[in-house]
Amino acid sequence: MAKILVTGGLGFIGSHTVVELQKKGFEVVIIDNLSNSSLAVLDGIKAITGIKPDFENIDLKDKSLVQSFFNKHKNIQGIIHFAASKAVGESVQEPLMYYENNINSLIYLLQGYAPLESQNFIFSSSCTVYGEPDQLPINEDALIKPAISPYGNTKQIGEEIIQDVCKVSTNFNAISLRYFNPIGAHESALIGELPLGVPQNLVPFITQTAIGKRNQLAVFGDDYPTPDGTCIRDYIHVVDLAQAHVIALSRLLDKNHKNNFEVFNLGTGTGSSVLEVIHSFERVSGKKLNYRIAERRAGDVVSVFADTKKANLELGWKAKLTLDDAMRSAWKWEQKISKPS
Ligand code: WQD
Repeated sequence: MAKILVTGGLGFIGSHTVVELQKKGFEVVIIDNLSNSSLAVLDGIKAITGIKPDFENIDLKDKSLVQSFFNKHKNIQGIIHFAASKAVGESVQEPLMYYENNINSLIYLLQGYAPLESQNFIFSSSCTVYGEPDQLPINEDALIKPAISPYGNTKQIGEEIIQDVCKVSTNFNAISLRYFNPIGAHESALIGELPLGVPQNLVPFITQTAIGKRNQLAVFGDDYPTPDGTCIRDYIHVVDLAQAHVIALSRLLDKNHKNNFEVFNLGTGTGSSVLEVIHSFERVSGKKLNYRIAERRAGDVVSVFADTKKANLELGWKAKLTLDDAMRSAWKWEQKISKPS
């Protein structure tokens, strides 16, 4: 079966995708620099699938290390590229770190991969490339507006770089997957999200508040033009998202596949407000969440959720898990990692 390189494969979405690849019989090698993950994730993957993936601790910003990796691994039939910094707020404070890490890594990876006979590349992108949408739900032809953060800009630039490579390479095929809001964890609670420090994202902050790691959740504004006044997002279970990556990769490996660059939105197609997410958590956990209404957070868009028709029709993929499924798995994971060892 094909050998697949997963960069950032010890991260949140990466590790869940490695599990789904192994379940489909793919051989996986992971590159990760452990800047936002831990080696223990390898044990979690093995505990789920029985297979410990090959792992190399490489920083993709080191061009010579990337080159020597490809000198050693000449039979990589596909790459799923997750490795990147992804905190919107941090990117505003540290733009050069984000451009260096997210763009240089991509360039060195593509340069290292170039000599291989056939190249199939899946790029981890984000709905953040759309900014504040003009119409909802958002489809892949929606206008790509000037990015509202350096992080979002690195995703826009990354897609443009890949498109330019596709234009001049006859044996390079790529798919960019634009995620909405990935949440939840594997049902086994053996892998999940491991936010470093104070979580920036809603769901880990909810579960950490409920477990007692955080005192109270601040809801960033309830005066938005939405039914309950709080922002709306498209929360997609990370396992649904991981399975979409395997389907997209198989599409590229299919010799009859024609287009050499495609984009797909990966969401549920349904928007949920912050308060709806809180109520889902309370329903599945049986716990009352301690939260307060706070000021709006700069940079938040009011409402964003996906038009998933293209992925449904062309990938034959549709999210199957619900918001409650995701919140239940997130809570089970939080209880597991917070249990006194
Ligand atoms: C969701 C909603 C907040 C925390 C970001 C990136 C996106 C992707 C996912 C990387 C918003 C509200 C949050 C809190 C809150 N990341 N919130 N209190 O901002 O939609 O997307 O993460 O790929 O690219 O942009 O996700 O979870 O931060 O916020 O009220 O403590 O929850 O205001 O409305 P976001 P989020």
